[in-house]
Amino acid sequence: MAIREILEVPDPRLKIVSEPVADSEFNDELKQLVEDMFETMYDAPGIGLAAIQVGVPKRVLVIDLQPEDPDADPIECEHDGHKHTHPATKKEPRTFINPVIVDPADELSTYQEGCLSVPEIYADVDRPATCTVRYQDLDGKSHEENLEGLLATCLQHEMDHLEGILFIDHLSRLKRNMALKKLKKLRQAA
Ligand code: NI
Repeated sequence: MAIREILEVPDPRLKIVSEPVADSEFNDELKQLVEDMFETMYDAPGIGLAAIQVGVPKRVLVIDLQPEDPDADPIECEHDGHKHTHPATKKEPRTFINPVIVDPADELSTYQEGCLSVPEIYADVDRPATCTVRYQDLDGKSHEENLEGLLATCLQHEMDHLEGILFIDHLSRLKRNMALKKLKKLRQAA
């Protein structure tokens, strides 16, 4: 396993349209890519990652919403000489290869989105509230699943990456420019 570098705006590779994974490509290299994507996402930390975000233009997504785990003890941690506890979370890793959305709902829902390729920027985005996704797993087996809530939104956000689209591309030009300006300032300050 290895943590890979996450591409950030304005890297032109984030605009590439990713290629489908061919039948002959369901191999060890694909498994390694997915393992590395999970490790990179957990380390960031984030809840979703598309392969192009680590520079691989293939239609591969990983998602883990990492929900709170009510059965586990809260985690105590200490940083900057400062102790606190937070709820434990559990891992629910999901891999989507060659995903296709078949019937997005007319009804929209709004979530405040962020993206590992657009660090420190958050904005509300409207997307279909539910959708059905067809995808393949790591063994190449096909599945169809109805998604709702944060998982539906996250999948649609990640699928946009496969088309070279970022969540800030859903904002008005004014809001997008403001977000990019803010990011530039944050980078200069760092
Ligand atoms: Ni993203």
